[in-house]
Amino acid sequence: MPQTNPYLEGNNAPVTTEETVTELAVTGTLPSVLSGRYLRNGPNPVTPPDPATYHWFTGTGMVHGIRMDDGRARWYRNRWVRSAEVAAALGEPAHPGPVVEGMDFSPNTNVIGHAGRTYAIVEAGARPYELTDELDTVGPSDFGGTLPGGYTAHPKRDPDTGELHAISYYWGWGNQVQYTRTDVDGRVQKVDDVPVGGMVSIHDMSLTGRYAVIYDLPVVFSEEAVAEGSSFPYRWDDDYESRVGLLPLDGTADDVTWCNVEPCYVFHPMNAHDEGDAVVADVVRHPKMFATHLIGPDEGAPVLERWRVDPAAGKVVTEVLDDRAQEYPRVDERVVGRPYRFGYAAVVTRGDEPGFDVTSGLVKHDLTKGTSEVRGFRGGAGEAIFVPAQPDSSEDDGYVLSLIYDPDRQASDLLVLHAQDFIGDPVATVHLPVRVPYGFHGNWVPDD
Ligand SMILES: [Fe+2]
Repeated sequence: MPQTNPYLEGNNAPVTTEETVTELAVTGTLPSVLSGRYLRNGPNPVTPPDPATYHWFTGTGMVHGIRMDDGRARWYRNRWVRSAEVAAALGEPAHPGPVVEGMDFSPNTNVIGHAGRTYAIVEAGARPYELTDELDTVGPSDFGGTLPGGYTAHPKRDPDTGELHAISYYWGWGNQVQYTRTDVDGRVQKVDDVPVGGMVSIHDMSLTGRYAVIYDLPVVFSEEAVAEGSSFPYRWDDDYESRVGLLPLDGTADDVTWCNVEPCYVFHPMNAHDEGDAVVADVVRHPKMFATHLIGPDEGAPVLERWRVDPAAGKVVTEVLDDRAQEYPRVDERVVGRPYRFGYAAVVTRGDEPGFDVTSGLVKHDLTKGTSEVRGFRGGAGEAIFVPAQPDSSEDDGYVLSLIYDPDRQASDLLVLHAQDFIGDPVATVHLPVRVPYGFHGNWVPDD
């Protein structure tokens, strides 16, 4: 009997074709500020995987893009990121380039615009792949010979300098992770190897005005998992010391202050900022990760917490801000690392499959008032991306973009909400003729 795998079914099922669709149908009016590309990455196995062993994080990457300008949705494209394996599966020539340590992986986790280029990115040792504006693969990138090793799926852009800060990990580096700072021209200007407690999986980081925040939590590379043939060799470790590290941006690894925290796992912080000598970090906290559910993240409800990381006391004080399950937290990119008021996340609910969660709505948090608004959907929602109405408009004066699956059409819509009318009528809806499988992360890449 073939086994089933929820990450290969419903709107998680991979699509099998690449599409180019021009002049998409739009309901409502697309704001003129939306001149650029909405991009989103996600796993989409290029060849059918074994459902018994498929891990959601390991599917080959497919980037989806919608180009908009002048009130029109010009095109939708979806393209596999052509690692050597993907190119071979498609019967195409490879795109040779600076692959490192044999880690030629088709990045499936995020897609960013930086220094006028587009990069599909992933963690755990592989380098970014550069894409064209129309999502065709250029090849693996080492940022012009400046990136020593692999990268991360979650760099943080300083809104003042435009630089990308990153914490990258790779089991082959042993008990250390790597901090990099990449300038606005796309060249790495600072590299610092930071000792940590083990061969840890650190999915994301926080940035403040003074620090890179390192989440050294108990998901570590497991020789046992490798021996078992697992495609995703990271497991929960009950014996691992859970810590948060503050790496001064103007210092070195020797200057990191470590603060203990109760064991848990954080894929994604919402945002963080300096407060006196401490750091306030809002994070989505999972009680555990990859302890028993080994094919995707599902070890209890992920809730929104505020962590006060106090280097003087050497500890983290945590407070639940919202105990409803949620993930994919985002903020206005202009407030990254700064005091902020509004955050957005996808609401997580229990799906039909035992032990499998799905996203079913979007939530907007007002963290100053302690209130929130929830917009539910019959189909699933994706990560919410905020685009300001004007460069200097107030924090929630702008638009929230998210891909929503419409089960009736079995296709996806790009929803455009005004953030100040979060549960009201959409400003616009871009109707795609195809579905976009649930995936991970994306960004709005404005025209220059
Ligand atoms: Fe992520």
